[in-house]
Amino acid sequence: MHEPLEELLPKGSAPSPAAARNSGAGADGKSPPESVPVVDVGAVSVGRGRAPSVSLENVDSLPPLPDPAATVAAPSASSERQDTEAALKSSTSEFGEIEMHEQNRDSSDSVRDGDAEAAVEKPSGWVEEEEASPEKPSRKASFCHDISDNVKATIRPCPSLSANLNNYDSAEDASAPANGSPVMEEAWERLNKSYVFYKGKPVGTLAAMDPNADALNYNQVFVRDFVPSGLACLMKRDMEPEIVKNFLLKTLHLQGWEKRIDNFTLGEGVMPASFKVGFDLQDRKERLVADFGGSAIGRVAPVDSGFWWIILLRSYTKCTHDYSLADLPVVQKGMKLILNLCLSDGFDTLPTLLCADGCSMIDRRMGVYGYPIEIQALFYFALRCAQQLLKPERDGKELIERIDKRIMALSFHFRKYYWMDHTQLNIIYRYKTEEYSDTAVNKFNVIPESIPDWVFDFMPLRGGYFIGNVSPARMDFRWFLVGNCIAILSSLATPAQATAIMELIEDRWEDLIGEMPLKITYPALEGHEWRIVTGCDPKNTRWSYHNGGSWPVLLWLLTAACIKTGRPQTAKRAIELVEKRLAKDGWPEYYDGRSGRYIGKQARKYQTWSISGYLIAKLMIENPANISIISFEEDKKISKPRLTRSTSF
Ligand code: GLC
Repeated sequence: MHEPLEELLPKGSAPSPAAARNSGAGADGKSPPESVPVVDVGAVSVGRGRAPSVSLENVDSLPPLPDPAATVAAPSASSERQDTEAALKSSTSEFGEIEMHEQNRDSSDSVRDGDAEAAVEKPSGWVEEEEASPEKPSRKASFCHDISDNVKATIRPCPSLSANLNNYDSAEDASAPANGSPVMEEAWERLNKSYVFYKGKPVGTLAAMDPNADALNYNQVFVRDFVPSGLACLMKRDMEPEIVKNFLLKTLHLQGWEKRIDNFTLGEGVMPASFKVGFDLQDRKERLVADFGGSAIGRVAPVDSGFWWIILLRSYTKCTHDYSLADLPVVQKGMKLILNLCLSDGFDTLPTLLCADGCSMIDRRMGVYGYPIEIQALFYFALRCAQQLLKPERDGKELIERIDKRIMALSFHFRKYYWMDHTQLNIIYRYKTEEYSDTAVNKFNVIPESIPDWVFDFMPLRGGYFIGNVSPARMDFRWFLVGNCIAILSSLATPAQATAIMELIEDRWEDLIGEMPLKITYPALEGHEWRIVTGCDPKNTRWSYHNGGSWPVLLWLLTAACIKTGRPQTAKRAIELVEKRLAKDGWPEYYDGRSGRYIGKQARKYQTWSISGYLIAKLMIENPANISIISFEEDKKISKPRLTRSTSF
């Protein structure tokens, strides 16, 4: 089933109408860690202008294995500065060194056998655990969130970050356009400035570069946030595939770490939510530091990261025709680890993936636990990408068979039970309950009284959408943009369903787009429901942030869905709205209010994915062939559920 992406058009081919693309106590795993303050590990080296054109193949040689983790005393402020400066000067010459052994991988699949780039970096504050064999390098490291008394983290922010921010506060220096509009020109410059470098190579983009707001973790490279940036680098005229390749390989190294939070170890395949580049004053080396949810607010698990990683890998492969990356044993192994997390047998009666709250873009408690649409759609998308990328050798064949079966089951379940339109709403409204037997009509025993009032008014006669969640006696009727658009792009939605979703968006424009695209979810939770569902979250008050806020980044997903369904005019309408305000407002992360009129209460400015999302929306509208690197045609082999209930079909 290793199809070399043959149905996919090379970049630039003529469009087809339908497819026109963070140690110490607790590290022994026996005792709970002491509560020792964690030294802040800062960011990064950023924005050195354009990505240097460095070839991975010729920069990474196989260096000697590192010394064991050293005990390091925190230096004084002035020595820190000197050390940092000295180290910064020397950082480029360290390029190509590997500080840490590959973790948790078969030697046969290790980086050393494939690509030297895929070796793992050890962050300061990590404790390596010795492994028995002297011949074999140690393959375990602990990911802990406290630092022992005798191990002090010495990673400090690289000065280049703040200098960069100060120099880049205003948009006024945007130069005249060489290519594209002034807004696009500014966007390209800002995207370029957000590049994060590791050992001289671009490995990702900062989440935001707001000089007037606390960085928190916005000075990190988020996996999900990098996707639009990576796509922009792939879609632009002078393609920059290196940053995408470096990102894919670096995040793959991070996956190789043992991820321990308190006394609990996360699954091998878990991909980080985010990472940053710090500077280890002891070793005078840059280090990657990853967050697998252990540092994240609320300790939320980034279930979506692994899926986005696979999706971006396929986009990279499709766009560059460089199959050698996906074919690397270490990359094949990384994909398998991600998929094994999701395809293992368990107690599930449903083919959808059971998740905790806050596991995706909405990374706070918002009632998206259970079987949230965004994860299911991304799961399906990643499975289809893996079908193309996995090699059938060794255990690959068996995994591909499991993927094929899951795709069948997942698409049937999703298309049938998540779909909502006027006719289906009416059926549920009239549901009988307490049906016992496998022939039950009301399979999940949904109590009609649980249907919220708003949905009766919101539902148009034409059109429909996939609802937010389906589980026993619980249907979350809220609209979620990401899941619906991903369902369209991956062809999880049938063509008729995709058309119906677009009809709903057009029909409910004021609600879903308003003055600034695009509502992440609709409607907002208010009053008692907001208190119960969000736990009184002051960031997610009604019509703000994840709770009915408007996110410019989503423009690219809407645009791609519009192009795929043959409605570019709809996307152009949304792009025009964005162009009226986004650059002038300083590229905010999100907008607040029922119609998205106000810059978000706590929105960061110069949010990278607001910038890159706009850019790829424009690149797709200008050249619809670009959509093929992020879209799938329908899999004709997948049987459709008999959906006779909808007038939209
Ligand atoms: C917020 C968003 C999350 C995003 C992160 C970085 O936490 O909810 O989706 O990845 O910011 O931009």
